[in-house]
Amino acid sequence: MNEIHQLLFAHRSIRKYTEQPIDESLLHTLVRAGQSAASSSFLQGATVIRVRDPERRERLAVLAGNQLHVRSAPEFLVLCADLKRPGNCCERYDKPFAGDYTEQFIIATVDVALMAQNMVVAAEAAGLGGCYIGGIRNNPREVSDLLKLPRGVYPVFGLCLGYPAQDPECKPRLPLEVVLKEECYSEEGDEQRIAAYDDTVREYYRTRTGGGHGICWSEQVATLLSEKSRPHMRQFLAEQGFTMK
Ligand SMILES: Cc1cc2nc3c(=O)[nH]c(=O)nc-3n(C[C@H](O)[C@H](O)[C@H](O)COP(=O)(O)O)c2cc1C
Repeated sequence: MNEIHQLLFAHRSIRKYTEQPIDESLLHTLVRAGQSAASSSFLQGATVIRVRDPERRERLAVLAGNQLHVRSAPEFLVLCADLKRPGNCCERYDKPFAGDYTEQFIIATVDVALMAQNMVVAAEAAGLGGCYIGGIRNNPREVSDLLKLPRGVYPVFGLCLGYPAQDPECKPRLPLEVVLKEECYSEEGDEQRIAAYDDTVREYYRTRTGGGHGICWSEQVATLLSEKSRPHMRQFLAEQGFTMK
């Protein structure tokens, strides 16, 4: 395994940070590393909003479900899918804007994810830790108003960054055979593999929470998928111009 592979395998979300600030030039390097990710059709459909104002940060922490790390992270970034900037080019070249197709929504959202993960890897390589914050989609309208997001832009997730003040264990992932299939989709043998994996995850949570809460992966995702999940998103996205034609 080379150093980069080791770094990737050592990933864990960090939710507690020291007070050490992130050097301005390092932050810029991280964003530029994000920009270096591949971009579908070279759309470059991602915009990063850095939130430093304490009042705005506090508001975001509350809107994201009162997540402490949003409040305490030395840096908090909101990663937005942005079809406004490429859409302006249509105006400039006097072409009709057809960016309201589901495909464009996918392109911009994937661009955000690729950019963000490059940023996280670059951050971890520099000794930082981070945590994505999907919680900002609990209240996407309020978040968008707070950040003055125009039509054509939507907040995909937040990202806390800072120097780690905790050293959590890596969370075990599904067995390779469950996610890597040869030639065709197949679930053969997966039930047993996932049952064994559930034991591993149960044990991971048990040791992490000092003997309590030993939920397994299957139960966790079953609960998640049996509940309504941010049902406001469809309407919100349509209002922002992502009408999914
Ligand atoms: C898009 C996305 C949104 C997430 N949102 C949150 C969040 O709002 N709050 C949080 O504490 N963790 C959040 N996470 C972190 C996940 O819980 C975490 O990545 C997962 O449990 C695996 O753990 P690990 O990152 O430590 O390996 C999010 C992760 C992703 C990829």
